[in-house]
Amino acid sequence: MDDTRGRVTRDGIRIYEDADLEGMRAAGRIAAEILDEVGALVKPGATTGQIDDFIREAVARKGAVSATIGYKGYQHASCISVNHVVCHGIPGAKIPGRSSDVLQETDILNIDVTVIVDGWFGDSSRMYVAGTAKPFADRLIRVTHEALMRGIAAVKPGNTFGDIGHAIQSFVEANRMSVVRDFCGHGLGRVFHAPPNVLHYGRPGTGAVLEEGMFFTIEPMVNLGRPETRILSDDWTAITRDRSLSAQYEHSVGVTATGCEIFTASPAGKFFSP
Ligand code: MF3
Ligand code: CO
Ligand code: CO
Repeated sequence: MDDTRGRVTRDGIRIYEDADLEGMRAAGRIAAEILDEVGALVKPGATTGQIDDFIREAVARKGAVSATIGYKGYQHASCISVNHVVCHGIPGAKIPGRSSDVLQETDILNIDVTVIVDGWFGDSSRMYVAGTAKPFADRLIRVTHEALMRGIAAVKPGNTFGDIGHAIQSFVEANRMSVVRDFCGHGLGRVFHAPPNVLHYGRPGTGAVLEEGMFFTIEPMVNLGRPETRILSDDWTAITRDRSLSAQYEHSVGVTATGCEIFTASPAGKFFSP
């Protein structure tokens, strides 16, 4: 991928130009539209394989390309992470602890889609529920969404990446839940994963300073129990070590002169509609 636009900061973070916003808007919008559409498929009895098939077709129908198919050998158009799966759940594979990929009543799941449109990357994920969530699962989902939005609220020139992490961590821990440390957000633009690592924990005023023109994801994973994770023998699926439930929301954002633009906002206004 060509990634030669704008300039790069001392911290290795690319600063894009105003003309580049249109590309990120187009890519982010398509990722968001797909996440809007896929909600209708999530119900007890549906399989994660069916959901991924729909996403694969939706990506093509919109004239986009899947960023995940072929990425480090990954073969799917989405990651679907059910219950105690933290991230990188493989659609069509057995749900960990189960004998199939069939969703059951009260399952909570994250669906993560990344598309490439004219060379620009749009990366977003949301939580969905098969049927109705149990109250503690519903609370986890609400806290995780609010944590992401508080992180986004800290995005403006002059703030630091530590301010984003602190906004997320302090809210999550005040709710007696834990922030996963083993995965982070990332710069993106003309590439999928670029500097910086966007940590979802941290101390105010630490880390690189945010500048207009930085594009990155914020994608906190929050556990009801302990923060530690483990990768299964498929080399992808990350689960909570204590098997507690985990949730995640992800937006792709850009730093503007006064704050933040969310590239993956839901056109239908249903980013949070678990
Ligand atoms: N979309 C994920 C992220 O938020 C990355 C998925 S890589 C895959 O960065 F290969 F697992 F699909
Ligand atoms: Co991401
Ligand atoms: Co993602």
